[in-house]
Amino acid sequence: MSEIKNHETTTIKITTVGKLRGDFQLPGDKSISHRSAMFAAIGDGQSRLRNYSSARDCQSTLDCLEALGVQVKREPDLITVEGVGIDGLRQASQVLDVGNSGSTIRMLSGILAGQNFTTEITGDESIQRRPMKRVIDPLRLFGATIEARDSNFAPIKITGGNLKAIEYTPPIASAQVKSCVLLAGLFAEGKTTVVEKTPTRNHTEVMLREVGASPETSADGERISVTGRQRLKPLGDYTVAGDLSSAAFFIVAALIAPDAEILLRHIGVNPSRTALIDVLKQIGGQIEVENQRLAHGEPVADFLIRSSKLSGDLELSGAVIANLIDEIPILAVAATQLEGTLTIRDARELRVKESDRIRSIVDNLRRMGIEVEEFDDGLRLTGKQTLKGARVESYSDHRIAMAFAVAGLIATGETEIAGAEAASVSLPEFYNLLARCGTSVQ
Ligand code: S3P
Repeated sequence: MSEIKNHETTTIKITTVGKLRGDFQLPGDKSISHRSAMFAAIGDGQSRLRNYSSARDCQSTLDCLEALGVQVKREPDLITVEGVGIDGLRQASQVLDVGNSGSTIRMLSGILAGQNFTTEITGDESIQRRPMKRVIDPLRLFGATIEARDSNFAPIKITGGNLKAIEYTPPIASAQVKSCVLLAGLFAEGKTTVVEKTPTRNHTEVMLREVGASPETSADGERISVTGRQRLKPLGDYTVAGDLSSAAFFIVAALIAPDAEILLRHIGVNPSRTALIDVLKQIGGQIEVENQRLAHGEPVADFLIRSSKLSGDLELSGAVIANLIDEIPILAVAATQLEGTLTIRDARELRVKESDRIRSIVDNLRRMGIEVEEFDDGLRLTGKQTLKGARVESYSDHRIAMAFAVAGLIATGETEIAGAEAASVSLPEFYNLLARCGTSVQ
């Protein structure tokens, strides 16, 4: 199939597969890529980032950094960032546009709060609906001046500088909020501490170590501190681990399609991200995690996945939710084939992602003939149901588009994904990779 261009509205047709076979490496992790670009930008000297995510979101981060005076050279599989140091960013001459990227706007706001100038930052329609108070509140405590629509929505205007370190306990489990506070802390006078009641992905902490900022973590892992106003080393030659959240679509595809076998190489397996794998194994998923090693402080491994009979009841709530929040759409698709019941609670955050993901999942599953119960904070469905080919919607949400493309692989008849191009927000290669595994994607 031909390449899908950004911003085109495309409907993709997926039909039932024969044998699913594949052996490939996925582009770099989206979360780690954003952070690598931001840390490279404020480090002293050049960083050369390899396997940087091709996600549109991660390109938005580079665009914003360039607008702030950072030189970025983009070559196939090499992003060279000329770090400007902790005091080297310059006022942008235009409003920064993060596109669809929540990670960019929330984490970059932390850096912007540390600057002695004013920046306006915004994004697409979805970004302008997503809550920003969660980062505005702590940044105001640091001493930054922030204006935003209803004190909660983009566009956000940030005037920073002269920050004083804070101790902050985010009221929600969010790695973006934690990272925003730690990044602002790098520019503040004194030691900033984030108290995290529910653990979230720790890529920022890992990278703080890589750039020599020596974050301190309490024995119970709850308190993470960083001292401000230090110079940061460049990341140098840095290879981003493959994206586990993107891999999740291929992992579930291989588990639920008949006679499938897929090998995925060099995927990030940071324990703060791997709950989906544990859960899938718990219900009988044949996933071999091989060749585990450390790359720049981040664990990576290869995955060998084979078709599996999935059975057992899954009740997911509480702390585990933050660890698999991005994988819930594809987990719900997997659960349609489960001999048992999947219940998800405490996942209200899904309602303020790129789309209202609880709504998007439930609506598309129902269109495909699946009985599913919707809760304010989750959903429940009993599996061993037949997915029927239907026209579903991406709701302009990358993970919804990809999850339902996978559902289409095992559905009877043809599945159409309206707005399929949303996938490029995190994995522009998605449909091509799916086609390479032997599926029919038109
Ligand atoms: C991310 C954190 C999560 C996740 C998002 C990426 C990150 O968001 O859903 O896709 O890179 O820190 P929240 O921090 O809002 O939970």
